[in-house]
Amino acid sequence: MNFIKEAVEQYAHDHTHQEEDLLTRLEEETYERLEIPHMITGRIEGRLLKMLARLIQARRILEVGTFSGYGALSLAEALPEDGSLLTFEIDPEAVAFARKYFAESAHGKKITLMEGPALDHLKTLQGPYDMAFIDADKVNYLNYYETILPLIRRQGLIVVDNVLWSGRVLDPQDESDRAIHALNERVRTDDRVEAVMLTVRDGIYCIQKR
Ligand SMILES: C[S@@+](CC[C@H](N)C(=O)[O-])C[C@H]1O[C@@H](n2cnc3c(N)ncnc32)[C@H](O)[C@@H]1O
Repeated sequence: MNFIKEAVEQYAHDHTHQEEDLLTRLEEETYERLEIPHMITGRIEGRLLKMLARLIQARRILEVGTFSGYGALSLAEALPEDGSLLTFEIDPEAVAFARKYFAESAHGKKITLMEGPALDHLKTLQGPYDMAFIDADKVNYLNYYETILPLIRRQGLIVVDNVLWSGRVLDPQDESDRAIHALNERVRTDDRVEAVMLTVRDGIYCIQKR
């Protein structure tokens, strides 16, 4: 969901530097082949993730929710040759799709995709990580945040997608609405971090660890 007019969104898209051809092809095939293709990160958010990762000179990144691999490959572009990105995905069809593109990309060797529920994997990890991108099942958003924050280095970054949830966080009705609102409230009052909520796309929370 975007909060601004389609034509303005298109203008912003057209004035954001273009992704590499492989990502354009990945996005096209996502729309042809996968269910709920609009879950894909896409150009504006993908370029933003890459820029943020580069600005903090990230070397180790986590991603919760791989889907077709757009966000993972965007972030991996910012990593040095010996950098690494660990990404988690529960849907076998998405796993196979993303792996195909990781194998084709020059940055794919930096990416490890772990299949299965992300929380199970996250609980086995040791930090420090420089950055995390949370973009999976909304009911677990607070669990992801609380599990990941201790793994992040000081001044490291957590980026959370869909935190405005088409505006439903203003009047939460179902479980996902309430879960996202609970995460937003937790971050707002959490003195371990400093956060900025962007109204880009469906709301992007940029949370820096103090
Ligand atoms: C919004 S999409 C992710 C988009 C992706 N980050 C990108 O850059 O295009 C959310 C993904 O999270 C996955 N997912 C949902 N619940 C999950 C879980 N418990 N563990 C791991 N992945 C999960 C879904 O299958 C879906 O592919």
